[in-house]
Amino acid sequence: MKRFIALLAALGLMAGMAQAQGKLEIFSWWAGDEGPALQALLDLYQQQNPGVDVVNATVTGGSGVNARAVLKTRMLGGDPPDSFQVHAGQELIGTWVAADRMDDLTSIFQSQGWMDVFPQNLIDLISTPNGIWSVPVNIHRSNVMWYVPAKLQSWGVEAPKTWDDFLAMCPTLQSQGVTPLVIGENWTQQHLWESVAVATLGAQGWNDLWSGNLKFTDPKAVQIWDTFGKILACANDDAAGLSWQQATDRVLSGDAAFNVMGDWAAGYMTTTKGLTPGEGFGWQPSPGTQGTFIMLADSFGLPKGAPDRDNAVKWLELIGTKQGQDTFNPLKGSISPRLDSDLSAYNAYSQSAAKDWQSDTIVGSLVHGAVAKESFMSQFADVMEIYLNSMNSQQAANAAQAIANQVNLGQ
Ligand code: GAL
Repeated sequence: MKRFIALLAALGLMAGMAQAQGKLEIFSWWAGDEGPALQALLDLYQQQNPGVDVVNATVTGGSGVNARAVLKTRMLGGDPPDSFQVHAGQELIGTWVAADRMDDLTSIFQSQGWMDVFPQNLIDLISTPNGIWSVPVNIHRSNVMWYVPAKLQSWGVEAPKTWDDFLAMCPTLQSQGVTPLVIGENWTQQHLWESVAVATLGAQGWNDLWSGNLKFTDPKAVQIWDTFGKILACANDDAAGLSWQQATDRVLSGDAAFNVMGDWAAGYMTTTKGLTPGEGFGWQPSPGTQGTFIMLADSFGLPKGAPDRDNAVKWLELIGTKQGQDTFNPLKGSISPRLDSDLSAYNAYSQSAAKDWQSDTIVGSLVHGAVAKESFMSQFADVMEIYLNSMNSQQAANAAQAIANQVNLGQ
């Protein structure tokens, strides 16, 4: 009997040895009320790896404005996290991949059978000829206009299909003390700009900007700023101090009629605010972008020198699974890019996004890292400031083109 117990203990010890130990540090900007979806994924990881000390390292600030700076300091200082949030596309490829700071994940994609499960265009976005560089956890849509249906009805307006429609209804809203469109801090203004740009140029024209085939100084591209300026004249004048959540709150409270924001706003309104899509809030493609889906994807990569590499690999393997993705995305407001995603787990908003993702023309987001090098993307914040200070379309266009030349945009 004693021997039997000793054997059991030895087996237990072996099982314990096989179990992952140590730490896992996941770095992201999903802090506070942006956190529940990530937390659900971390909880799943913890369940599967009870021996690992999971550290959720966040730096607050929408769209990663602050996190990217902290990450840079850590990466350059030789102190990388085990895995970090990064936008699929040029934000990763043009920085940490170009600097040879990332591990190639091709073998994980192959061993997990992901080459057939993720859409080819998404795999292309996260690849170079030398490898695949991150695991996408979602697809978010940038070009969405949000509103509260009952409030629009009480003000006697309908969600505008074009920016001209919107401009025409501004006085009606303003005369009732309602801000027609609410915007927040700088990056949310850039976010609005990209929707106005796609409405002005169309999908092809937008792609031409990023390939260098259309200059920012082309009259068509200058026109984006003209329209943008007219829209800003219908917006709140305390934008700089508002986070994207505070801007969303103004729509929900009825201080403002509309907001253009990515569909993390749907995650916020459902998961944090407990609202029902279609009742508590309504949505449509931002004016003039029907049929086009401005996409972005959050992803996680494996930096060279990750202190807990094996645990990080387990993390990457988990977040690419169907279970991982269908745990995370219904809370986040995004959809899973996996072709076998279980849509019944998603709410009415996300189901409509999934439908559009299948049928729309897909283009990439500027602000959220898909289409342009990080060096362009980060300096576009200055272009926005130049515009806000001068309200001069040509000046903003010249500044954008100067930066494009300086960073060899499109090459
Ligand atoms: C985006 C990111 C989203 C969401 C949003 C607001 O850049 O892809 O997942 O976090 O910023 O912070």
